[in-house]
Amino acid sequence: MSGCNKVAEAGRRFFLGRGALAAAGAAAVAAAPAAPAKAAPALAQVTYPRTKLANIRDLKPNEPQEIAYPDADSPGVLLKLGTRVEGGVGPDGDVVAYSILCPHKGYPMFYRTDDRTLNCPGHYSRFDCEKGGLQVWGHATQNLAQYRLKVDANGDIQAEGVDELIYGRHSNVL
Ligand code: FES
Repeated sequence: MSGCNKVAEAGRRFFLGRGALAAAGAAAVAAAPAAPAKAAPALAQVTYPRTKLANIRDLKPNEPQEIAYPDADSPGVLLKLGTRVEGGVGPDGDVVAYSILCPHKGYPMFYRTDDRTLNCPGHYSRFDCEKGGLQVWGHATQNLAQYRLKVDANGDIQAEGVDELIYGRHSNVL
């Protein structure tokens, strides 16, 4: 056998040996009992303040009321839409609240009573208040931050959380 052939033969043996080892290793891994799955780490939790926004008797259908939540630097709007909506609270299931800061670049938005949308004067994004703040047009990359509400036995409307990040914040609660 020439020197060159010896080198080629040694290389072939080495390759086959490694291949057999790799196959044996794969079989051992496949046969090993599955390790118990670890629970996914909990997402960062934020403790929201419970804040009274108004009483249900204070609201008139389709008349926006200015509010602030979760703190005074976070302007929002409280709405009694007049028709039951997903996520609405109160006896008629029609009370909702949103941040009015546009998720695109934070312009304060205004409410249009004719189509129940929040509208941005900055770059004209629009959000549907009857559909959980769904963006219906515009540049934002998220829907509008909606406040989680509860109505207590006295009719007080309490805000207890926010479902999206409020514009300009790393955390909704500072
Ligand atoms: Fe509202 Fe740009 S800031 S669309």
